[in-house]
Amino acid sequence: MDKNFLNDFPILRSEMNGHPLAYLDNGATTQKPHSVVREICGYYGGCNANPHRGVYELSVKATKVYEDARRKVAQFLNAKSTREIIFTKNATESLNLIAYSYGLNNLRGGDEILITIAEHHSNLVPWQRVAQVTGAKLNYIYLAADGNLSAEDIDKKLSKHTKILAVTQISNVLGLVNDVKKLAARAHEVGAVIVVDGAQSVPHIPVDVQDLDADFLAFSGHKMLSPMGIGVLYGKKKILEEMPPFLSGGDMIEYVEEQATTFAELPQKFEAGTQNVGGAAGLSAAIDYLQGVGFAEIERIERDLTNYTIAELKKIPYVELYGCDAENKIGLVTFNVKDVHPHDVATILDAQGVAIRAGHHCAQPLMKFLGQNSTCRASFYFYNTRRDVERLIEAVQKVRGVMRLA
Ligand code: ALA
Repeated sequence: MDKNFLNDFPILRSEMNGHPLAYLDNGATTQKPHSVVREICGYYGGCNANPHRGVYELSVKATKVYEDARRKVAQFLNAKSTREIIFTKNATESLNLIAYSYGLNNLRGGDEILITIAEHHSNLVPWQRVAQVTGAKLNYIYLAADGNLSAEDIDKKLSKHTKILAVTQISNVLGLVNDVKKLAARAHEVGAVIVVDGAQSVPHIPVDVQDLDADFLAFSGHKMLSPMGIGVLYGKKKILEEMPPFLSGGDMIEYVEEQATTFAELPQKFEAGTQNVGGAAGLSAAIDYLQGVGFAEIERIERDLTNYTIAELKKIPYVELYGCDAENKIGLVTFNVKDVHPHDVATILDAQGVAIRAGHHCAQPLMKFLGQNSTCRASFYFYNTRRDVERLIEAVQKVRGVMRLA
């Protein structure tokens, strides 16, 4: 790709600790291009008012910005209707909305919730709470030796008792891509709904909710070039219509009496209070940018960077890699340097301008399953280059020397 993304992302030209920045923590959050920043400034500079509330022209403009963004997201995901797109503050809030509004009201003792051991806490802790309150049982699909979801566990644990299958499309720790389409078909065979955590997939691969036949899908804007504080919940209209509101207050009502309220239609029923219109405008601009690059190109770049990193790290005898034998893996590489705590590794890399994440990555049950307390993670986006990977490798090669272990 000839395009020099650095022109669009000036932050990537910064220096950290006297070195050019190699930003490899895109799984945590991505950088924002000029076009997204311009859109947010343009909204606040020229269109800001409270949407859905005013009859004056400025409020009508703000409403248009907000609802145009919803249309953009619906097209982006190939949702059947804009009513299926609920704006939230992030994937975590979207997943909590499903757990509290759908889970608490549809499950009871004897029912089962099935999740995978590779879930982020945001697609795990809410289900623990639903299980505790309803008496449902929380079951786990573990990983097979190759790092993929255990087919045996899926066969054994997905049954007519399963009411919810909640699964990440791409693991934030291992980068493994789960076959959500197949899992959705399996869930529907037993009468369960499937909840897809798309936080690490929607930014990186094409996601078509109708093709996947997902009942729910959650993602965050900030992991795909948008500002923090805007997220999306997709849900099938028929299911969302039957769910009670999650948060209550302004803008989600039809009529309010002293003792009772009737609620607004979708999507307003789930959007209580003043919403993040600037964030929605930023998300809309981000989708334009990503579609301009093209998801085929995004995937090609990220697969190349992922494979290159794995190949180079494998040459270093004291580096241990996790989940790198699975066939379908994209966007990130998780590793440890023998005898060095991941936080020390990340600090030594930072001194060389290389930004990675170290820790449990909000996936403590997965860490325990892997037999680790924490790991290092380098995660990519399409604006990263092979030079960033080389900088990572050069920095990793210095770690044991700095720790006087060489
Ligand atoms: N969920 C984000 C990550 O995995 C914060 O880094």
